[in-house]
Amino acid sequence: MKRMAVVLAAGLGKRMKSKLHKVLHPVCGKPMVGHVLDAAAAAGCERTIVVVGHGAEKVQAYVGDRAECVLQAEQLGTGHAVLQADKLIGGEAGTTIVVCGDTPLIRPETIRAMLDAHERSGAAATLLTAVVPDPSGLGRVIRGKNGNVERIVEHKDCSEDELNITEINAGTYCFDNRKLFDALGKVKNDNAQGEYYLTDVIGILHEAGETIAAYRTPDPAEAAGVNDRIALAEAERLMRERINRRHMEAGVTFIDPAVTYIDADVAIGADTVIYPGTVLRGRTVIGEDCVIGPQADITDSVVGRGVTIRHSVLLESEVGDECSVGPYANLRPGSKLAAGCKIGDFVELKNASLGEGTKVSHLSYVGDAVVGRDVNIGCGAITVNYDGYNKSITEIGDRAFIGSNVNLIAPVKIGEDAYVVAGSTITQDVKPNDMAIARERQVNKEGYAERLRARARAKKERSGQN
Ligand code: UD1
Ligand code: CA
Repeated sequence: MKRMAVVLAAGLGKRMKSKLHKVLHPVCGKPMVGHVLDAAAAAGCERTIVVVGHGAEKVQAYVGDRAECVLQAEQLGTGHAVLQADKLIGGEAGTTIVVCGDTPLIRPETIRAMLDAHERSGAAATLLTAVVPDPSGLGRVIRGKNGNVERIVEHKDCSEDELNITEINAGTYCFDNRKLFDALGKVKNDNAQGEYYLTDVIGILHEAGETIAAYRTPDPAEAAGVNDRIALAEAERLMRERINRRHMEAGVTFIDPAVTYIDADVAIGADTVIYPGTVLRGRTVIGEDCVIGPQADITDSVVGRGVTIRHSVLLESEVGDECSVGPYANLRPGSKLAAGCKIGDFVELKNASLGEGTKVSHLSYVGDAVVGRDVNIGCGAITVNYDGYNKSITEIGDRAFIGSNVNLIAPVKIGEDAYVVAGSTITQDVKPNDMAIARERQVNKEGYAERLRARARAKKERSGQN
C-alpha cells in the first residue's frame, strides 16, 4: 500500500506572539516541524507534502529536499490546508497520514502502529486520540452508542455536554487517500471560527457509512499541540525527559537529568558521565568514557573517547581521545585538538589545530595557529593574530616550548624543539632547536625601594591628603 504524508504548517501561530513562524520554534534544538517530519519519515512514506503559508519561504528553506511544499495562500482552516495537496496526490490510491506541524511530541512508533492498525482494519479514517485532564481548546471525539467514532467537534462549537468529553483529537490521522479528498470537497465553513475544518471529514465519512477507527495513545503528550510559549516550555521538558531516558537506556550516566539539556540529534557514547548544567546542542557527538560537565556548553562539536570537559564552552570544535578541557576554556570554531591535549583554565582557542599531547594550561589565546605535537604553551602566552585589518597565522613546530607571557606576533614560525623564553615578544621566525629571547635586560638598584617610598610619602604630605 502506497503511503503518503501531509504536514500542516501554514498557520500563523498567533498565540506564540513571535516574529518566528510557529512550526520553526525549536524543541530541544530542532524546529517542531522537523520532529514531525522525522516521525513521518520513520513511517516509510513515499511522498511527504508540507503545506506552507505564513513564513512560507523560511519553512520551505528549512524543509529543503526532505519533502515537497505546497502553498496555502490564505489560511482558511486545516481542511482547506490539506485540500492544497489535492493537485499533487488527490488521485492516488493509498494511505495518507495527516500530521499537524505543531505536535512535536508525536512518536514515530505511534505513527507506525497507527498506520498498521488502519491498514489492517480497512477503515476509511483512523484518528489518534488521547484522554487528557484538561481538554480545553481541543477538538472532542464524539462516539456513538456502540462506541464507534462518529465525528469531532471543535472546542468553540461544543455544547455544554460535549465540553465535558475528555477524549480529544490529537490532530494526527490516517486516511484512505481518495476518500479523504472526496470528503474534503464537501467540507463547509459554517462553524464558530468560519473555517474549513479537517475534522469535519470524520463526520462526513461516518455519514456516508464509512468506518472510522480510533487509535488511543496512552501518552497524552503526543497529542499536545504547541500553541503558546507555555506549551512550548512543556513540550521542551517532555522531549528532554524522553531524550535523556534514551541515552540512559543506552548506557550514559546522568547525575541529574532534570538539569541536563541534550538536543534531539546529539549522540553520546556508553559509560560517559554527564554532570548537571550541561548543554549539548546541534550535531554534537560525544564518545565513550567521557566526563562532561558540570556546566559544559557544547555545540556542533565532535568529542572523542575518555575526554574530560568541565565548565567550558565549545563551538564547532573537535576534541581527540583522552583530552582534558577546562575549567573555563572557550573553544571557538575551528579548534582541533589531537589526542591527549590539555587545555586549562581561561584558555581561548580559535581556528587552531593542536598536535597530540600539546598543553595550553593557563590564561592563553591561541588563534589562527597550527601547533605541532607535545608543544608546551606557557601561562599567559598568546598569539597576536590580528593587526586591525588582517588575520595572520602562527606556526609552532613539534616539542617547541613557549614560555609564560610570550607574545607571538603573527605571521611567525617557531621551529621544532625551539625554546622561546618567558616574557618575549617574538616578531621573527625561530629556527628549530634555537632559543629566542626578546625582552629588556634586568637592572637591580640597591636600596632603591626605600628611596621611592620616601619620595611618595613626601608628595602625599605636601598635598595635605590623608
Ligand atoms: C486542531 C484540530 C483539533 C485538535 C488539535 C490538536 C482542526 C479544525 N482542529 O486544532 O481538533 O484537537 O488540532 O492539536 O483541525 N494550519 C494550516 N492552515 C490553516 C490552519 C491551520 O496549515 O489554515 C496548520 C497550523 O499551522 C498547525 C495545524 O494546522 O500546524 C493545526 O492548526 P491549529 O490552528 O493549531 O489547530 P488547533 O486549533 O490546535
Ligand atoms: Ca494546534
